[in-house]
Amino acid sequence: MSTRRLLVTSALPYANGHIHIGHLVEYIQTDIWVRFQRLAGNEVAYMCADDTHGTAIMIRAQKEGRSEESLIAEMREAHIRDFAGFDVEFDYYGSTNSEENRELCHEIWAALRKAGLVVEEDVRQLFDTEKGTFLADRFVKGTCPKCGAVDQYGDNCDKCGATYTPADLINPKSTLSGTTPEFRTARHLFVRIEDLHPFLTEWTQSGTHLQPEVANYLKGHFLGEPLRDWDISRPAPYFGFEIPDSPGNYWYVWFDAPIGYIAATKAWCKKTGSDFDSWWKTGPAEVHHFIGKDITYFHTLFWPAMLKTAGFKLPTFVHIHGFLTVAGEKMAKTKGTFVRGSTYLEHLDPAFLRYYYATKLSKGLDDLDLNLKEFEEKVNSDLVGKVVNLASRSAKFVQETGLATIYPEDGGLFAEAAAARDEIAADYDAGDFSAAMRKIMALADKANRYIDEKSPWTLRKDPSKADEVRQVCTVALNLFRQLAVYLAPVLPRLANQAGELLQTPIRSWNDVATPLVGTGVSPFTHMLKRVDEKQVQAMIEASKEPEPVAAPAVPATGAPTAAAGGVTPGASTDEATPVVDGPECLVAEPLAGVIAIDDFLKVDLRVVRVLAAEPVEKSKKLIRLTVSLGGDVRRTIFAGIKTAYDPATLVGRLIVVCVNLAPREMKGVGVSEGMVLAAGPGDKEIFILSPDSGAKPGQRLH
Ligand code: 2FM
Ligand code: ZN
Repeated sequence: MSTRRLLVTSALPYANGHIHIGHLVEYIQTDIWVRFQRLAGNEVAYMCADDTHGTAIMIRAQKEGRSEESLIAEMREAHIRDFAGFDVEFDYYGSTNSEENRELCHEIWAALRKAGLVVEEDVRQLFDTEKGTFLADRFVKGTCPKCGAVDQYGDNCDKCGATYTPADLINPKSTLSGTTPEFRTARHLFVRIEDLHPFLTEWTQSGTHLQPEVANYLKGHFLGEPLRDWDISRPAPYFGFEIPDSPGNYWYVWFDAPIGYIAATKAWCKKTGSDFDSWWKTGPAEVHHFIGKDITYFHTLFWPAMLKTAGFKLPTFVHIHGFLTVAGEKMAKTKGTFVRGSTYLEHLDPAFLRYYYATKLSKGLDDLDLNLKEFEEKVNSDLVGKVVNLASRSAKFVQETGLATIYPEDGGLFAEAAAARDEIAADYDAGDFSAAMRKIMALADKANRYIDEKSPWTLRKDPSKADEVRQVCTVALNLFRQLAVYLAPVLPRLANQAGELLQTPIRSWNDVATPLVGTGVSPFTHMLKRVDEKQVQAMIEASKEPEPVAAPAVPATGAPTAAAGGVTPGASTDEATPVVDGPECLVAEPLAGVIAIDDFLKVDLRVVRVLAAEPVEKSKKLIRLTVSLGGDVRRTIFAGIKTAYDPATLVGRLIVVCVNLAPREMKGVGVSEGMVLAAGPGDKEIFILSPDSGAKPGQRLH
């Protein structure tokens, strides 16, 4: 097999947060792959860096009253320390805020300009007038326009999964100041990647660069229609690189972040004398990115488009993994499952997590679940019970004699384990670590059966069997060594310990093929300790954070006020105190201010059928309606129309309801899941809007 040259990257962690066990899935995954490739004799350059730019860092620095540079320097140290603690070993750990990165951004930008791919467009964006800044998606929170869930970020809803822009949010609030942002327009620069559509279709669908499900996802979600221009500039203030030919504008963090992969390589080449072009421009070096599925589209559409245009090598393969869940749920600070790397290391051995993740990682994009009980059991039964025990039960009996000088008869065990070499290598190379772990543990089981049967601890009681003890232990330790080689990418410390024990370092994948004979055996020292449930619990307790104190209530919906054209959610007067007994319907008033059609279109008005209507006893005005949106979709709505309607007369009627207001607690009564449209001044003069005959429940008004 000829040697491969591999340029490998993990996604660059944001400099505004600490490394946690969710991040570590990817770094451990990549590090295992890298270590395997090295052991197999390939040349690898493993690059990473901190992703330093963007609004989040800028705001945090402002809050902490310090410079962005001092903040990113501090986080860099913490990241490097955490990675080292988990034996994740980069060849170079750079920063996107580096001179190399700035130069490369200029170079790639010039290429995009030259190719005529840069266009300018006006962008209407929410602006925090108090903080004087445009608001990135994550800095706006409001009500999901699709399902009405409150307190959702400006880019997607974690309740229903809808994706949208902050402009779509109902009742948006700046998370920086809590104020209602306003729309402002600024000129942005865009990359017209549609020009590269044919190339991207070919590259993504070739079957060689992406997992099949990723290729299909791109085909189904993006490539079937024109690719939208990519907005890559942000107006000042912004922490990043200013765009040379567009003063006052900065490259969006996602423009310079992946360029950080190249910049790290460049800095490493400067340091080591390696030839930069041979990695990124010419020659047979392969480029492998490891990323999480949330950033697929940056790496499989924008990034290849940038590389192609600027004449860099395209990724050989983008390895995409799923998310980490703990006990089947998203990591949560309140539950103590949002565990920082540094907290983990205070309680547990990094080898445990490396091994556990290895048993869970395969070629697909499935989420990976950390079940703490299973974690404990796997580590104790596999690593301690099957692997380390093999050595601990045999080494001491040959410490004085060393290994036998001729490899003894072992019933074919060593040869069988050696024969698994190519299959296990193929699993590692394909990223199917769980398959590799299963095969390795099956070999461990056989080795353990051998030592149990031979039982050297019994044999040694009979002095005439000293030779046999030596032979049995020579076999057991050689089988242990094979396991240590196979596990070396996952458990580098164990591989070193095995090397020290048998006084022969593990250097190559091929070390599984030749038994050690005649070498000395060092005194057995502790290798891995069993996990104690208490340690796991202590880690969880140490990670628990109390529920954050709720920000001043951002109201779910606007109180009922507006008339035609005035249904802008959140435009209400009394935002913080829900109106308890007010008319939960739209009552006409003098015409309100003008709103944009886009805003109006956010209001989802539907025809519904009233299935039930009951007066609310405690209230003078409210009627509780159960309405059908078609099929078995039902909503409960409290409408302040009791003064004008006898509930019984409403049952069976078709009426019009706004269905995408956030659910709203009506004090002591229940939750209202919509708003009935009505006109009139109130009291007896309230007139419910009804569609003409022929309308059907669920139909949207337009
Ligand atoms: O999603 C993230 O955490 C980004 N910081 C990853 C960047 S990867 C690369 F493109 F730089
Ligand atoms: Zn939603």
